[in-house]
Amino acid sequence: MIAVGRGFAEAERPVLAGFLWDAFEAKFRRVLRDREAAAAVLGSGLRPQGVLTARRDGVAVGVALLKDRTGLTPVRASLRSFVSAYGPVSGTLRAGLLGVLDEAIPPGVLAIDAVAVASAARGNGVGTLLLALAEKVARTRGHGTLMLEVVTDNTGARRLYERLGFSVVSTTRAGPVVRRAFGITGYHRMHKAV
Ligand SMILES: CC(C)(COP(=O)(O)OP(=O)(O)OC[C@H]1O[C@@H](n2cnc3c(N)ncnc32)[C@H](O)[C@@H]1OP(=O)(O)O)[C@@H](O)C(=O)NCCC(=O)NCCS
Repeated sequence: MIAVGRGFAEAERPVLAGFLWDAFEAKFRRVLRDREAAAAVLGSGLRPQGVLTARRDGVAVGVALLKDRTGLTPVRASLRSFVSAYGPVSGTLRAGLLGVLDEAIPPGVLAIDAVAVASAARGNGVGTLLLALAEKVARTRGHGTLMLEVVTDNTGARRLYERLGFSVVSTTRAGPVVRRAFGITGYHRMHKAV
């Protein structure tokens, strides 16, 4: 049985960080380098309040990260964790590069920063359940819009979001820094009224 809920158990930190790395490795490889360093920085930075966890028979199989402008945040990785994973100069540079992706969230909006399902568990409705819970959280927090961004070549994920009621509100071509550091050529911003 698949169940989704808010937060995570301490023991699940590295597991959830692993799902995020596996799902977004292509995007974060240059900046986070490898699975181990990414797990150290990301795992220690995850904040339960902004994290939804999906479990199948009690075992974590997926994660969603939620953010809004009223204090909900899924990851707060300290500069110290970057320095301890990559060294002082490289760690500071990598933390700064990740900051480039940080965009202000408009009022009334709950942003889904990432959805990642373990590769063996994909296609079984886990992502759909995580998005349904995100919708519930948005309503509970008084937001009228769910927002997410999907890279332009991720057509499978986009199809899922459209089926769940999201539509593209804008398409952005990535600038040279984002293109180089994250290998992204562009992304769609999608909204769903909740
Ligand atoms: C996208 C993702 C979160 C969907 O989770 P899921 O649990 O597989 O989703 P569901 O089972 O609820 O829905 C399946 C739908 O997801 C979409 N999908 C996208 N990538 C998929 C994949 N690798 N495997 C299966 N379905 C995928 C398909 O549209 C599929 O619908 P279809 O049956 O019409 O093809 C998951 O596949 C994943 O983690 N992918 C890698 C990371 C990613 O792309 N995240 C989204 C970035 S915005």
